[in-house]
Amino acid sequence: LIRCQSTSTEEPKTRNPLDKASNLLTNLLSGGNLGSMPIAEGAVSDLFSRPLFFSLFDWFIEHGSVYKLAFGPKAFVVVSDPIVARHILRENAFSYDKGILADILEPIMGKGLIPADFDTWKLRRKVIAPGFHALYLEAMVKVFTQCSERSVLKIDELLEGEDLHGKKTVELDLEAEFSSLALDIIGLGVFNYDFGSVTKESPVIKAVYGALFEAEHRSTFYVPYWKFPLARWLVPRQRKFQKDLKVINECLDGLIRNAKETRQETDVEKLQQRDYSNLKDASLLRFLVDMRGADVDDRQLRDDLMTMLIAGHETTAAVLTWAVFLLAQNPSKMKKAQAEIDQVLGQGRLTFELIKQLKYIRLIVVESLRLYPQPPLLIRRSLKPDVLPGGYKGDKDGYAIPAGTDIFVSVYNLHRSPYFWDNPNEFEPERFLVTRNNDGIEGWSGFDPSRSPGALYPNEIISDFAFLPFGGGPRKCVGDQFALMESTIALTLLLQKFDVELRGSPEEVELVTGATIHTKNGLWCRLKKRSDVH
Ligand code: HEM
Repeated sequence: LIRCQSTSTEEPKTRNPLDKASNLLTNLLSGGNLGSMPIAEGAVSDLFSRPLFFSLFDWFIEHGSVYKLAFGPKAFVVVSDPIVARHILRENAFSYDKGILADILEPIMGKGLIPADFDTWKLRRKVIAPGFHALYLEAMVKVFTQCSERSVLKIDELLEGEDLHGKKTVELDLEAEFSSLALDIIGLGVFNYDFGSVTKESPVIKAVYGALFEAEHRSTFYVPYWKFPLARWLVPRQRKFQKDLKVINECLDGLIRNAKETRQETDVEKLQQRDYSNLKDASLLRFLVDMRGADVDDRQLRDDLMTMLIAGHETTAAVLTWAVFLLAQNPSKMKKAQAEIDQVLGQGRLTFELIKQLKYIRLIVVESLRLYPQPPLLIRRSLKPDVLPGGYKGDKDGYAIPAGTDIFVSVYNLHRSPYFWDNPNEFEPERFLVTRNNDGIEGWSGFDPSRSPGALYPNEIISDFAFLPFGGGPRKCVGDQFALMESTIALTLLLQKFDVELRGSPEEVELVTGATIHTKNGLWCRLKKRSDVH
């Protein structure tokens, strides 16, 4: 049995004496304080028959926005409330670390930003975040465009091949295509390496996919089996993983060596004003190496690059996958998007300025992230005892939690909460245009774009933590604007040329989840050239 504790005030319901004993043990191990959170129950089969975040949603509706979930003696507090999420992620952020997530990712990312200990994180965040400055992002528009054009050309060629056989459509797993596209983009944008994976295979690409697969697998397991003595030598999958890591590390080491050999040291301000339009290498690695006073050993740089490679690849591929999945079921919205694209691209090649005019496409991207957040859960562990604020239901005192409490902030639940969204399960990109007051929800400020002036995309500030696709507070994603612009451009160039429909029914597209939400067997689509453009 899995037990989850609800916000209801009922006595814990236990199914049998064994479960009661386990409940007692849970409370003892957690210091007893969590005992004040009321209880509910679920079955282990809930976990294995479908992705965990679905069960977490059902329990949220049943038991409230802060409840406890227990696996035998191990317990997690599940948070689905913007006020509590804001407290954990922003207001009291430094009382929490990444907990089990760091355990999972540390063997892959080392001391990269995501799993790094606090001291390392503080130093590296200060150096890495300025690398995503405005001129860098503008330079990336060119990279996003060129890589997306390669994908479009590939589809064009496939269609021409089909045309020879009298067929006007091509069937393609777009999830796989987006994965290649996102890999090429992250390689060029972060360390100026062209994987070229849209058109070819290579040992480095295979190693990257191997490592990603292992990271994904580990994130669905709650037992760190890879830490067992000798596992890395005895378990074939672990041996392969070590081999894959070696291939990637050698590639990254070569790029770092090369960047250091051509170093041109200068101040951050000067780096941020370089003539990016004429730079051969506009990558983040170039910035990190050239920044004066940011000397760092090669191992740390490699961990930083590896972290961004993993953090920025599957996430963006997933956004594009779900955006197409949603649009394919809403042809009128696809047409509306294409009309906007024709109007904007009629003015010329994509630029940073033109992205500002792609208003509807940008809303499609964020709406896709609302319905399919990547990752669907944020993971934290309390470093010291804390008192969570009362949530929107008005349980003013909140809950006291002891040090060492593992927490899932369910972004999926927040994004589909019936308490904060109208028609939460519907795909309605236009919803972000509506300003909303707090509807009497004490402690939450509603939706107000004026809170984040100049933001191209709705974010956690505008929604006061009801919408947080990139997290929030000091550990917020550093690549958010990079990813949003990349997705906007890739989607624009695809829809400019092609009409897309699903090959089968939407129900056939099964979901699986690890770090991101993806499909079980690919997003198989039928693409054809648009007939309404000439
Ligand atoms: C952190 C989402 C793309 C680099 C995060 C977090 C989220 C997130 C939710 C916060 C995790 C937490 O609080 O536990 C996404 C999504 C993306 C995306 C949805 C694509 C649509 C990228 C890209 C990069 C990147 C393109 C790099 C180029 C990072 C890094 C962190 C992070 C380094 C850790 C930040 C820190 O702890 O200081 N991302 N991300 N992400 N992301 Fe992203």
